[in-house]
Parts: sequence; structure tokens; C-alpha cells
Amino acid sequence: MSSTRNKITVVGAGQVGTTVAQLAAYKNLGNVVLIDIVPGFPQGKALDLQESGCLQVFDSLITGTNDYKDTADSDIVVITAGLPRKPGMSREDLLATNAKIVRSVTEEIMKYSRNPIIIVVSNPLDAMVYLAKKVSGLGKDRIMGMAGVLDAARLRTFVALELGCSQTDVDAMVLGGHGDSMVPMPRYTTVSGIPITELMEPGVIDQLVDRTRKGGAEIVQLLKNGSAFMAPGASVVKMVEAILKDNRRILPCTAYLEGEYGWSSIFFGVPVQIGIHGIEKVIELKLTEAEQAALDTSAKEVKKTINEVDTLLDKN
Ligand code: NAI
Ligand code: 2OP
Repeated sequence: MSSTRNKITVVGAGQVGTTVAQLAAYKNLGNVVLIDIVPGFPQGKALDLQESGCLQVFDSLITGTNDYKDTADSDIVVITAGLPRKPGMSREDLLATNAKIVRSVTEEIMKYSRNPIIIVVSNPLDAMVYLAKKVSGLGKDRIMGMAGVLDAARLRTFVALELGCSQTDVDAMVLGGHGDSMVPMPRYTTVSGIPITELMEPGVIDQLVDRTRKGGAEIVQLLKNGSAFMAPGASVVKMVEAILKDNRRILPCTAYLEGEYGWSSIFFGVPVQIGIHGIEKVIELKLTEAEQAALDTSAKEVKKTINEVDTLLDKN
């Protein structure tokens, strides 16, 4: 039976994918298709989630599948397929393995959905979203990565814990690649509109910035087997909701740059406005010299991994 509800496909029924499916269903954002390479795995997760519908009060249909035909005509596709980091492993170590996975997944998705909006989550994020754009041929407005919402959520949390204030009153901006050289922006981090530079000593801010940069690794070290998934899942769903509800929210997302911030042909974390058409605009902030230098360092790191993707694509 056809449905007028939005169709959200989540590729990869692992930790992040399941959290995305769960939160999207709880928010009644649309029907959810959960697809994975492992037979039975997405079907089991989907049925379990569907059975929570009468308790969590949602009507969305949740389908688990290993067949891309079931993803046909998706409005949004979230790609979480791939391996997560193990302790001591950098996001870049994942590149070769996850590139193969993201490539094949994107090819399959594009066979059945003509013009979806794709949100890539798989790491190394900036390189994987670049790869997915090349393989899909989608316009820069319809393909983006999730990183900045998560990294900013971490900074927001650390600020709130430090000040003993509500997390919801804290807003933050984190730019750059989703790696250790990401650029948290204290000047654009506020508590009810008050810049944190007026509320904390510079040394404390530096510590919170450093903890944000290492936020993913901190969770990996604690879990010992796998990486963060609850805050990442919630971050993805914030983006999905902003798109499907046409909220036109301004969020830090990984977007394709064509000259903004002095960089071209890379995916990079920048503030964007998102709505029903995907990325509607990239917002360029006026940066200090030090901020631009930090951003350039991060962009060079991203460019390195993107070059590796180009080499892999040239070989095949
Ligand atoms: P996970 O291991 O729990 O789940 C990954 C799933 O992908 C598994 O169920 C696996 O069977 C599936 N998969 C593997 N190859 C596939 C294929 N060809 N087609 C379909 N499914 C396939 O991992 P988790 O924790 O869900 O993380 C997923 C990815 O997201 C990792 O690369 C991780 O590093 C990344 N990540 C990125 C974040 C970000 O901020 N961008 C935050 C958190 C995770
Ligand atoms: C994170 O930041 C692993 O990239 C993932 O948690």
C-alpha cells in the first residue's frame, strides 16, 4: 500500500542506525526502512521497534530489509553503514574499508531513489560524504554529512556541566572537519545569548575545546568496543527533522564548499541553513586570523583524506 508519509531509509542497522530509526519513529517523522547487509538483523530491529509503537505512540511503519528495492523513492537516506572505530584507531584508519562500503551502498540507493537527500554518518566523515557525492551525482544541496551538530552538542554539554546550568540554554558552533583538528568556536558559544568568553576563564575554555575535539575518542576509550551512538543518532534526527519539517534551521553541517571560507571541492563543517530542499545556503562567518588559521589546518587534513578517496576511485 502506498503512503503519503515521508520515507526515511537508514542504511546500517547497527548502533547509530538503530538510534536514528528509533528517534525518527518516536518523533513520527515518517515511515522508516532499516537496511543492513546481515540477514535477519535489520528485520529483527525493525520488528522490535514496530512493537514499541503502541507504547511510544507512533504510527510509522518500520521495515527491516536486505533488499534495496524496499528503499525505493526515499525522501531521506541516512548512511551509517561501515565499521566504527576501535580504541587507538583514528577515523582515517577506517577509510579504505568504509570507502568500499559507502560506495556500494550509495550505488544501490541511487538505483531506486531518483533524487533523495542523503545524510552521511560513516567515518571518516568528510571523506565519506565526498565519496557519496561523487558516486551519487547529487547536487551539493542534497548531500551532506553529520558531524557539527554532534560536536557542538558535546561542547554544549561540557559548558553546561562546567557552569552547572541547563544544557538547553547553551548554544555552540563547531566548524571544520570531523577529526582532532575540528574548530570549536568559543566566540560563537553562548549561554542564553551570553558568550562563554564572559562566563569562564580562558584556560577553562581551552580545556573544554580540547575535550570537544577528543569527544569521540573519549567515548571509544570508555566503551572499548564501538563508538558513540546516542548523541550521534539524536544529531542526525535533528537534521532529518529540520529537513522534513522545512524548519530552515541554521546548524553546523558538513557541506560541499565552492570558495566559502577560502576552500573549494571539499566537504567541510560550516553553518548552513537546511530545509525541505536540503542545504539552502552556507553561512560565512567573519573569522579572526587565528580562527581562519585553525580552519585552514583542519581543511588541509580533510583535503588529505579526500585525495585518498580520489586515488581509490581512480584505481577502480
Ligand atoms: P555498527 O558497527 O554498530 O553498525 C554498522 C552497521 O553497518 C552494521 O550493522 C553492519 O552490518 C552494517 N554494514 C556494514 N557493511 C554494510 C553494507 N555494505 N551495507 C549495509 N550495511 C552494512 O557501527 P555504528 O556505531 O552504528 O557506526 C556506524 C558508522 O558511523 C561508523 O563508521 C562510525 O565511525 C560512524 N560514526 C560517525 C559519527 C559522526 O559524527 N559522523 C558518530 C558516530 C559514528
Ligand atoms: C564520534 O565522534 C565516532 O565520529 C564518531 O563519536
